Amino acid sequence: MPASHKVEQLVGELTHDEKVLLLAGSDMWSTHPVARLGIPKVRVTDGPSGARGGSIPGATTTTSLNVPCAAALGATWDVELVEQIGRAVGAEARTKAARVLLAPTVNIHRSPLSGRNFECYSEDPLLSGKSGAAFIRGAQSQGVATTVKHFAGNEAETERYTTSSIVDARALREVYLVPFELAVKEGGTLGVMTGYNRLNGPWCAEHEELLAGILRSEWGFEGFVLSDWFACAHTVSALRAGLDLEMPGTGRFYAPEKIAAAIDGGEVAASDLDAPVSRLLSVFERVGAFGDPLEPPPDEAVDKPEDRALVRRAASESMVLLRNTGVLPLDATKMRTIAVLGPNADRLNVNGGGSASLNPHHRSELLPAIRDRFTSDVELAHVAGCDIDTSTPALRVPVTAEVYAGTDWQGPVRLTKSFSSSELLFFGPVEDIGEEFSFRASASYTPDASGPYELSLVQAGRARVHVDGELALDGITNPPPQGTELYGLGSKETTTTIVLTAGTPVDIVVDYTSLFSVLLRGVKIGLRPLTGDDPIAEAVAAAARADAAVLVVGTNAQWESEGSDRESMDLPGEQDELVRRVAAANPNTVVVVNTASPVTMDWADDVGAIVQAWFGGQEMGDALADVLFGDAEPSGRLPTTIPLRVEHSPSYGNFPTENGEVRYAEGIFVGYRWYDTRALPVRFPFGHGLSYTTCTIGAPGLSESSVAAGDTVTVDVTVTNTGARRGAEVVQCYVAPRASALVRPPKELKAFTKVWLDPGESRTVQLELEPRAFAYWDPGNPEWVHLADMQRECNPFGPRPPEKRTEAGWRIDAGVYDVLVGRSSADLPHRLELRLTPSDLPAPSR
Ligand code: BGC
Repeated sequence: MPASHKVEQLVGELTHDEKVLLLAGSDMWSTHPVARLGIPKVRVTDGPSGARGGSIPGATTTTSLNVPCAAALGATWDVELVEQIGRAVGAEARTKAARVLLAPTVNIHRSPLSGRNFECYSEDPLLSGKSGAAFIRGAQSQGVATTVKHFAGNEAETERYTTSSIVDARALREVYLVPFELAVKEGGTLGVMTGYNRLNGPWCAEHEELLAGILRSEWGFEGFVLSDWFACAHTVSALRAGLDLEMPGTGRFYAPEKIAAAIDGGEVAASDLDAPVSRLLSVFERVGAFGDPLEPPPDEAVDKPEDRALVRRAASESMVLLRNTGVLPLDATKMRTIAVLGPNADRLNVNGGGSASLNPHHRSELLPAIRDRFTSDVELAHVAGCDIDTSTPALRVPVTAEVYAGTDWQGPVRLTKSFSSSELLFFGPVEDIGEEFSFRASASYTPDASGPYELSLVQAGRARVHVDGELALDGITNPPPQGTELYGLGSKETTTTIVLTAGTPVDIVVDYTSLFSVLLRGVKIGLRPLTGDDPIAEAVAAAARADAAVLVVGTNAQWESEGSDRESMDLPGEQDELVRRVAAANPNTVVVVNTASPVTMDWADDVGAIVQAWFGGQEMGDALADVLFGDAEPSGRLPTTIPLRVEHSPSYGNFPTENGEVRYAEGIFVGYRWYDTRALPVRFPFGHGLSYTTCTIGAPGLSESSVAAGDTVTVDVTVTNTGARRGAEVVQCYVAPRASALVRPPKELKAFTKVWLDPGESRTVQLELEPRAFAYWDPGNPEWVHLADMQRECNPFGPRPPEKRTEAGWRIDAGVYDVLVGRSSADLPHRLELRLTPSDLPAPSR
């Protein structure tokens, strides 16, 4: 994107000080305006589950479209659908007056335990990259720049600000960089966000090889690069590497005095600022920001019926039917009693935690969605059976806070703020008050049941809680230590037990002061009934009475979140026991797994059906009911292998970090590449997913059986719906080299397509195998000439040293390849032989 005349002119007219200001944010979510030249303040928004604008759950109430998480979108294997989702999120960003969307996340599902897997598409680089590129094309069609993130090697959350990902050159090129490369080359992303982590030593935000070398020189990226929030660590190296924008504002390492010192010290020249400023302004121009008001207008919440419909369809088409003995789809006309069980049944987890979280425009829940399908004489029993919250959940009741300037509740009330739950957060300075304030918040709660309840407090600052005038928790006199909640800025939870009476309201009053807080201020007050000795027994009894049991197990945004990784692949709490006992009580048990990452499923062979339902966004309740009752086809396929146990997974033993480094010791053998190579059995293979119809994949044909290495070949495949319902098939094509100069996985996904077919319908689809489908990255060995000479010198009678490449690059070996076609990485009935003949064609760059 060469700078336009206008941008060149602007760069010429900007003063040095104005250029410096443009290189760092002005606040949490915006860049600096330059009013005299008509350069507006450009707002950015998270990403990637929607566009939340300045609204942070708990702190503000503005709502946004909550789309299914990226792992769910990856499971659709439908790039057109992902593009439509991108378009909807891009349009939503504009309603938040944002021109930059901090999405998509295209890191790889390296470990089943990574806290941010939900934000990422797949364990496979091609599926991740094609999905990410589609999202980008959709979002950017709406006049926003995407910032694909987190570049690169950002596959764990533990010690995320310091850890160095130690990734070898082949794994980097063949796995971890591929989605970013596709985001640049096929998606045309205008922005890239660097990761918090270090990569093989240097921090990503100042990684010259990564930013100046690979991204810009090799891939030809012409957009702008911004840091993750507070990820920038040095001025000179970041400027040299090509980091254009430090976020958030105001700048710390790109602060005027730091840049001045770098220039005075002769480490950078004043003219070096022209390139980053020009890149930034070129992106602003490209998205149309120069026509925007200087100060962005406030966020709007625009809830569109067509978006709800799209998100509902995407959620249902992401759901993967892992197993079905014939229980699904449920037939509402044949049932008198249904049991809907499990800790997530009445509060589906629709999104992961952290910066991707937002206030959805709407929340469709499963229980009403199921109830709607029955007449009133059908009994619907709901029992949670166990509890999986890592801390006591906030109460969903209206709360009003009266805010005072100063930290001691003195003077007039300066602001009255309403909240929809007992999580009461203030992000950054409070308007017209600043960072030092106090508030008194009150709520009334009427319990449904009598008995003991756990009351809890997590504070970012200091607070105490009164119930009906009695002091119940005091975090002012006895402040608890730092914990992990409230974006890592909250205290550990303190709890007490109170006894409540059904139907009798209690007044809960919180006194909060911002003393000892930074950035995020406020409290989370939790309340939950303390359960009896064997809550599972109640669920089992309900299941035993019912015609079918729908058991919704899973995690939630506490377990799968930015900021932490899971410690175990097992379902939290007593859920495995719950599944076993419910399944034993009712053979028609459908287990819905409401997670975004794989979980251990030792009970898989003992249940009637399993649906992997992901975090499906705001319409998930209806979408899930659509799938359960057969109104929608569960057309998702696994974007990530579900291993038998975490010990089998490729990164086991090297995840997350040790002494500040996370070793990607499995190299290129990520996901199914690992399980295949090691011949390890898995619970459900990559690409797997059943259907309510049956399709056949006919014998495929190759455009040619022998081509020059570096040519493209196409594979024709005819798919027929042989069942009685409309349904989908995902045709998957893997390439397997028979021999290779360097070690390679037995097979790799190189093309795929999803086809929808009416009963009896046949369609022929074409899959393209481009040169890169056959290529591997050869890091070469620059020492080899010298080593070979040494060998000849030391032992002139020994064998001749082999020829080896000394330069790194993409290579395609001539020889025979198997092209495998089928419906999952473990179900590939068709094998075609393809010969690649030696050629002088240049090595494929893409
Ligand atoms: C996350 C980014 C996010 C940013 C702004 C960071 O903590 O890693 O993905 O875009 O915050 O919220």
